[in-house]
Amino acid sequence: MKDRRARPVPATGQYASMMWWTLLVAIAVTLVSCDEEAMKNLTTVTWAHAVNNKTYLEAALASDVAMLEADIVMGHINGKEGPPIPVMAHPPATSSDLSLSDFLSTVAQYNNVNAKQKGVKLDFKSIDAFEKAQALIAPYSKPGVTFPLWLNADILPGPVEATTPPVDPSKFLKLASGHPRAVLSVGWTTKIGGNITEGEYSREQIGTMLRILHEHHINQTVTFPVRAGIASNSQPVVLDLLRETSYLNSSMTVWSSEGDAVEVDRLRALILTVGLERTYLDVPHELAARLHLPPADVSKN
Ligand SMILES: *[C@@H]1O[C@H](CO)[C@@H](O)[C@H](O)[C@H]1NC(C)=O
Ligand SMILES: *[C@@H]1O[C@H](CO)[C@@H](O)[C@H](O)[C@H]1NC(C)=O
Ligand SMILES: *[C@@H]1O[C@H](CO)[C@@H](O)[C@H](O)[C@H]1NC(C)=O
Ligand SMILES: *[C@@H]1O[C@H](CO)[C@@H](O)[C@H](O)[C@H]1NC(C)=O
Ligand SMILES: *[C@@H]1O[C@H](CO)[C@@H](O)[C@H](O)[C@H]1NC(C)=O
Repeated sequence: MKDRRARPVPATGQYASMMWWTLLVAIAVTLVSCDEEAMKNLTTVTWAHAVNNKTYLEAALASDVAMLEADIVMGHINGKEGPPIPVMAHPPATSSDLSLSDFLSTVAQYNNVNAKQKGVKLDFKSIDAFEKAQALIAPYSKPGVTFPLWLNADILPGPVEATTPPVDPSKFLKLASGHPRAVLSVGWTTKIGGNITEGEYSREQIGTMLRILHEHHINQTVTFPVRAGIASNSQPVVLDLLRETSYLNSSMTVWSSEGDAVEVDRLRALILTVGLERTYLDVPHELAARLHLPPADVSKN
């Protein structure tokens, strides 16, 4: 917005030209920052899920999705014996035709020869899988590599008496901070569905996340995956979380499973309050469509 008080008063000589110069610089800076903001609509980022086998990885790379989300467990390549290794699979499965090592090298090869790079969100299902993955991730978390690399785990117990045990938060954060280029995606276990349709992130759950990020001196970009139906009931604490972590360029990643109960109006209010420049949206198409997010203001261009 333009400040009407900033209008130059009539003046002469060098003084006047200095004032005009200052005004022009001010206008230029305002225009540049508006442009940058307009370009930052993180909800435009698209997702493929459970990219846990060769066929689907090929399909996802051939598609126009931007981010490949995939799950890592300790297990075996189908039909092979030997000690367990990190493989692409979602519990309870423990075998796959795709190892983490092959997943990463296939994506990296694609990114080496394609102008539009694809990012990966690696969802570690156990601390063991993350520990054993360190050497495999390291070549891709070096500064020279540029494709988006997200390291994800549910590291804290979350709403609605979730029964899945979280991934050890301290070990996860210590190891993840060894990959400073990577985005840390850290969340809470959840349980919803069936007859469970209500739930909130508590102030205590949010506070614990803030405390452990501080304790581990986290100093890299962070995103918080929050489940749509629960986050929309928790606006005040989600706003607190993002405000307290703005020094980490934090964002939220709103996700939901097919069939989750979601109050669409409340979710829309949360997303617009947080802002499209701080919200990744990873929900079924049908829910995304019902949100009717406001279009870019074309009158600004
Ligand atoms: C491969 O992964 C996709 C996505 O998770 C899944 O729909 C498909 O059934 C999987 N195929 C095999 C052979 O496991
Ligand atoms: C929810 O479902 C579970 C099993 O499906 C049942 O044991 C429980 O009583 C139900 N709770 C309510 C409040 O209906
Ligand atoms: C955070 O990391 C940056 C480099 O990535 C460094 O310049 C800065 O000093 C670090 N800040 C803290 C508080 O450690
Ligand atoms: C946040 O973004 C700024 C500007 O891009 C960057 O300089 C800084 O290193 C980032 N910090 C973190 C923790 O991501
Ligand atoms: C942001 O992106 C979403 C999803 O592509 C789109 O529906 C919406 O109109 C966009 N809004 C702005 C302000 O760019």
